[in-house]
Amino acid sequence: MSETPKRILVTAALPYANGPIHLGHLAGAYLPSDIYVRYHRRCRHNILFICGSDEHGVPITIRADKEGVTPKDVVDRFHGMNTEAFARFGMSFDNYSRTSAAVHHVTASEFFLDFHQQGILKKKDEQQLYCEKDRMFLADRYVEGICPVCKHDSARGDQCEQCGPWLNGVELISPRGKLCGSTPIVRTTTHFYLPLGDFQQRLEQYVHSHTEWKENVKQYCESWFREGLQDRAVTRDLNWGVPVPLEGYPNKVLYVWFDAVLGYISSTKEWAVNAGTPEKWKEYWQDEGTKYVAFIGKDNVVFHCIVFPAMLMAKGGYILPDNVPANEFLNLEGGKFSKSRNNAIYLKDVLESFDPDQLRYTLACNLPETRDTDFYWKDFQAKNNSELADIYGNFVNRTLAFTERNFEGKVPPRGVLNNRDKEIVEYLKSVPGTVGALYDRYKFRDGTAEVMNLARAANKYFNDSEPWKTVKSDRAQCATTLNIALQIVRSLSILFSPVVPFSSERIWKMMNIDMPFSDAVWDDAGQLLLPEGHQISKPEIVFRKIEDAEIERELAKLGPPVDAAVPAPGVPSAPIKPIVGFEDFQKIDLRVAKIIACEPVPKSKKLLRLQVEIGGEKRQIVAGIAQQRSPEELIGKSVIVVANLAPATLMGVESQGMLLATHGDGEAFALLTVSNDVPSGSWIK
Ligand code: 2FM
Ligand code: ZN
Repeated sequence: MSETPKRILVTAALPYANGPIHLGHLAGAYLPSDIYVRYHRRCRHNILFICGSDEHGVPITIRADKEGVTPKDVVDRFHGMNTEAFARFGMSFDNYSRTSAAVHHVTASEFFLDFHQQGILKKKDEQQLYCEKDRMFLADRYVEGICPVCKHDSARGDQCEQCGPWLNGVELISPRGKLCGSTPIVRTTTHFYLPLGDFQQRLEQYVHSHTEWKENVKQYCESWFREGLQDRAVTRDLNWGVPVPLEGYPNKVLYVWFDAVLGYISSTKEWAVNAGTPEKWKEYWQDEGTKYVAFIGKDNVVFHCIVFPAMLMAKGGYILPDNVPANEFLNLEGGKFSKSRNNAIYLKDVLESFDPDQLRYTLACNLPETRDTDFYWKDFQAKNNSELADIYGNFVNRTLAFTERNFEGKVPPRGVLNNRDKEIVEYLKSVPGTVGALYDRYKFRDGTAEVMNLARAANKYFNDSEPWKTVKSDRAQCATTLNIALQIVRSLSILFSPVVPFSSERIWKMMNIDMPFSDAVWDDAGQLLLPEGHQISKPEIVFRKIEDAEIERELAKLGPPVDAAVPAPGVPSAPIKPIVGFEDFQKIDLRVAKIIACEPVPKSKKLLRLQVEIGGEKRQIVAGIAQQRSPEELIGKSVIVVANLAPATLMGVESQGMLLATHGDGEAFALLTVSNDVPSGSWIK
């Protein structure tokens, strides 16, 4: 960091208390934030680490409905479970709160009332889907249907996961209630809106002032700006959440995202009260000397880079995130994490069989910092055995064991340094700075690799110095080698402590150092501070190897890979839709189109921008097939398009028609094409 800020506030996305924490969560927001915080604590910086459970919203109530229990039962269960799992994993939060806490309800209500009193919120009557059977409005995920943009067949009422945009339930094609499956009706209801458009200019200035943000984050923001920010409803017709704090709105609560982001503030307030300094939260949120870093997964970017900053601007007097280091996704064994297909690995289960540090190290080496990555159990085993155990563990063990055998377990004197000694000492000096600079730029993979490189170099130093020979031929040289090796063991325990805190502390204890481990300072890891004659404790193995059988057992627990779970040939993947009359069918104008150009839509993984020719006419079509077909495969093909579909804008790009293709991935995907002999513009009927 070029200049140390007065204080640092770190938040990690509040996980929904509707299920157990899984590895995808850890790789997204939690492990990176914990490494960052532990590193800064070692640097003796003033840093506060805030998190908590997100206990409102439809994900919670749907789970409660399914299980036939109350939403409170659900959040109590998972808040407890996740608090414990996080603690065992070594998450070093200063406070882990929950959004059902009274302090949170008060905080969220204050923000809403303040916006209302300032006249910022707009009240609108709007059309919403209503289920007559369940007698409720179908907010957010209570309704599913076909995405009006990409035609994905299970878009949710609030968002299409396939192509990304926010949706309103009424926009869905063939909507169906999530609880009973019936077709909802449209009813009028009143909601409050936050006019994000009014903040667009300030938000653009804010985001553009942060050129150092990760590319993926900046690009997400740009696509929202290009589309133009719209009014967003901040209330919902639900009974679970923070009640709308105004007379006359029973059965309405604040939208979960409106309250969730404020959970960071209320959790800080709770921390301040517990610390006996109830006003101290203000320093972290309202003093310009604070650097605020919000760790999240990529699916949360819009809420943290646009919605939350707009809310903080509207309220006034609050600082904004200085950085929002969003990670991409961690996939599992080449497929997607999917709770329903038993293709998720839960933290609490992993910790039953493995040490937290084994998981922390493996994930740290494989964080999805710039692209999606995969978790493979075999890789977990290999990284543990060949790096943690064989490099780091081996170096610690051989150094301590040699000292015990040959120097009665005491740090031997360091004499005159030869070139090899000087080289490793110089290198050691540079490592804290190198790793710290990487962590400050949110490059946790690279930082972790640099520390392992030091352990690797230390092993080589030990080998090349051949102390087993010099112990007989040149005892002074042997003593110097061991002195330096022991210094490096001490340094490694500090440098590795953000990533593998439990084993680092065990090594520190084996070194029998008087100072509590928490007092060891980052920069001191570059120094040779172990005094000559210091007595070391008996060494023990720190990192155990993982056997093949353990990995086989874990693999057997997984369901089939999600991506492989496509329907068998010939089996319809969705029920046949209701009959339509011939006149209705005739309204759809299907034409042969020739693809003349094609390129990816910037910052979208799924979308391609195609230029097609339909008869004499040129059109632009955006299709969600980037993962199934490359531009090169498509150019020159004659495809079938819906030529009279209302234009739509996808990720800021206008689409003037739709390509026909089967729904599905892999073998199940097919583009409807005709031979190039058929002239473009030909009508299909
Ligand atoms: O995606 C999620 O799991 C949300 N519960 C994250 C909320 S982050 C913040 F707003 F609280
Ligand atoms: Zn879609």
